[in-house]
Amino acid sequence: MNILVTGGAGYIGSHTLIALLESGHTPIIIDNYCNAHPESLRRVEQITGHSVISYEADVCDAAALERVFTKHQIDAVIHFAGLKSVGESVANPIEYYRNNITSTLSLLEVMRTHDVKQLIFSSSATVYGEPESLPLTEDSRVGVGITNPYGQTKFMIEQILRDVVTSDPEWQITLLRYFNPVGAHESGLIGEDPQGTPNNLLPYIAQVAVGQRSHVSVFDDDYDTVDGTGVRDYIHVVDLARGHVAALDHAAPGVSTYNLATGTGTSVLQLIDAFSKAAGRDIPYEIVERRPGDVAACYASADLAERELNWRAQKTIAEACQDSWRWQSQNPNGYLSS
Ligand code: NAD
Ligand code: UFG
Repeated sequence: MNILVTGGAGYIGSHTLIALLESGHTPIIIDNYCNAHPESLRRVEQITGHSVISYEADVCDAAALERVFTKHQIDAVIHFAGLKSVGESVANPIEYYRNNITSTLSLLEVMRTHDVKQLIFSSSATVYGEPESLPLTEDSRVGVGITNPYGQTKFMIEQILRDVVTSDPEWQITLLRYFNPVGAHESGLIGEDPQGTPNNLLPYIAQVAVGQRSHVSVFDDDYDTVDGTGVRDYIHVVDLARGHVAALDHAAPGVSTYNLATGTGTSVLQLIDAFSKAAGRDIPYEIVERRPGDVAACYASADLAERELNWRAQKTIAEACQDSWRWQSQNPNGYLSS
């Protein structure tokens, strides 16, 4: 199938391009490179031996989308494009609502015009807010205790997509709720390339490991968890990428919602320890105060995805750390290293 991939040059998008190409699909990428580098696409070509079709454009720009949909016969869309920094979204809510919501609305309008009704949307564990009980399932409460505009955009877009299906049940919409993506392609050629100070734990640990930062600040060790530090469900980005191909293969009319998770929680200190073993060096850390808005623990059952999509996470935390270390040590300045 010809798959339009918005945000395809980004972290999860670039890994998904490989999974799509390896499954015989043809991805067509739209990215404005606001948080990515076109070099990621060259690396995807190097890994797969396929050339990729890409357009530099803003997904909010309906005229630009129209040109792409006119030029290519698109069969389905994977919509990764969006701004994703929780802290930045608190500081710049207008930009976050505008970019994430407007891009989705423009995309839906152009899809409707061209009678393309299959969409996979990048949702997030953030829609669950403060978990009532663990592990989370797709039936768990959503929308209560979302502490930032980024999370609200994901919650709102899920609702917009449900309303679209109500209006026209021929749409095939898959909401994939990612837990915490980590790791990199095993080649070490593509990986996460955060701009400035990383917000997320694993890229921060990786930068400490290569000596770019002195130590990891651990946001409190007094939570009610195995060792007092925050627990999350870290999923290898290559597993996540395969989940999109599985979702494409099993698309059905209506809205389908899946957690892409491992079912297992890992604490901050456990992740630091795993990375330290993968890198073969100490990772210094300091316990500091809690980060506002953080929950103690968040992990999910992915049984539904296993039953209905025939997908489950296969890679371990140790593999994620080894792959992330390979990417970080080969590309200490990300794609700018090349
Ligand atoms: P990323 O920032 O690496 O990728 C997003 C891509 O979208 C980037 O290449 C960026 O340049 C592009 N983009 C943003 N706005 C655009 C626009 N208006 N027009 C065109 N391109 C645009 O992020 P990622 O980690 O790969 O995340 C992909 C998706 O998954 C996002 O929607 C994100 O919110 C969601 N998600 C990510 C995580 C995570 O922790 N990484 C967790 C849950 C959900
Ligand atoms: N942490 C630290 N030090 C750091 C960074 C993080 O101790 O420097 C801790 C956090 O307190 C948390 C864990 O490491 O316990 C993971 O934090 P991340 O920032 O990597 O991930 P979050 O679970 O907080 O955030 C992720 C996504 C968001 C999404 C959110 C809710 O990055 O996009 O899950 O699902 F909104």
